[in-house]
Amino acid sequence: GLPDHVTIYEVGPRDGLQNEAAILPVDVKAEFVERLVDAGLTTIETTSFVHPTWVPQLADAADLLTRIERRPGIRYPVLVPNERGLDRALEHGVTEIAIFGSATETFAQRNLNRTIDSQFEMFAPVVSRALESGVRVRAYVSMCFGDPWEGPVPIAKVVEVGMRLLDLGCFELSLGDTIGVGTPGHARALIESFPCGPGPLAVHFHDTYGQALANTLEALRCGVTVVDAAAGGIGGCPYAESATGNLATEDLVWMLHGLGVETGVDLGSLVDTSTWLAKRLGRPSPSSVVRALSKE
Ligand code: HMG
Ligand code: MG
Repeated sequence: GLPDHVTIYEVGPRDGLQNEAAILPVDVKAEFVERLVDAGLTTIETTSFVHPTWVPQLADAADLLTRIERRPGIRYPVLVPNERGLDRALEHGVTEIAIFGSATETFAQRNLNRTIDSQFEMFAPVVSRALESGVRVRAYVSMCFGDPWEGPVPIAKVVEVGMRLLDLGCFELSLGDTIGVGTPGHARALIESFPCGPGPLAVHFHDTYGQALANTLEALRCGVTVVDAAAGGIGGCPYAESATGNLATEDLVWMLHGLGVETGVDLGSLVDTSTWLAKRLGRPSPSSVVRALSKE
């Protein structure tokens, strides 16, 4: 069976914009976030408090947060890798953060300048201090299916790293197919291998090989109810070769509404937002649904 309602965890302003060649002005980013809320999205990963020279696209994180009207009932999580990032997030009244670990050594080194083991030394005080401050923590695990340097990633390794992240005190674990190589059978096998069951799991598929929607449907059939997606299918990861955009939120919403699953999203308004954003980014949206429904 399928769930009645799916929570869309919108990552366009963070995962989407972190990998676009164009760096948008901060007021355009603020308008993007507001438009996503207007379109009915309730969880919007807004930016990252990472090192600004590592991801210059999001160096304006603090400025952006001061420009967004944080509306009641809407969640505005931000990415935080370390205590310095947590301090910056707390200064700006953030109430939900996401840490991001790697299931492979190569990506841990390239993305976090740490080993798999030492990433936990970095995350542990972030999670404990966040929880003491009343801040909820989501965790990502990246390279859950394949890694561009190491090849296929063993399910047992992903489960081990993922459970260690959850056990720090995180309320949710998002399984990242960073380079989009996963297929539905692999997604099912991975989800079914988690001893925690599907309850705390979310899925995060990049669409490099066009598998994101099929993988997501399979994850829903396994009991997952939280799905990450980026408006217009923008983005990728600057530290992962060959990563392209996330599953497009529009493609996800089209499928879910067709299946009778509620999302709370107004598809027309979301398509207008992605069409508006594509002009600012200087490239058309890669989403099939945006292309089909766009009035321009
Ligand atoms: P490092 O160089 O090891 O940092 O980088 P450090 O701890 O040695 O500190 C060096 C200097 O940086 C210090 O300054 C720190 O204060 C400063 P100094 O004392 O030399 O003057 N610093 C900071 N400044 C501002 N904000 C901070 C911060 N941290 C340190 N947060 C670090 C380690 C983790 C910081 C770096 O590797 C980094 O920022 N990495 C982030 C990379 C990233 O954002 N990647 C994309 C997101 S992950 C992703 O997209 C995957 C995902 O979508 C899921 C999927 O698809 O799989 C989530
Ligand atoms: Mg990602």
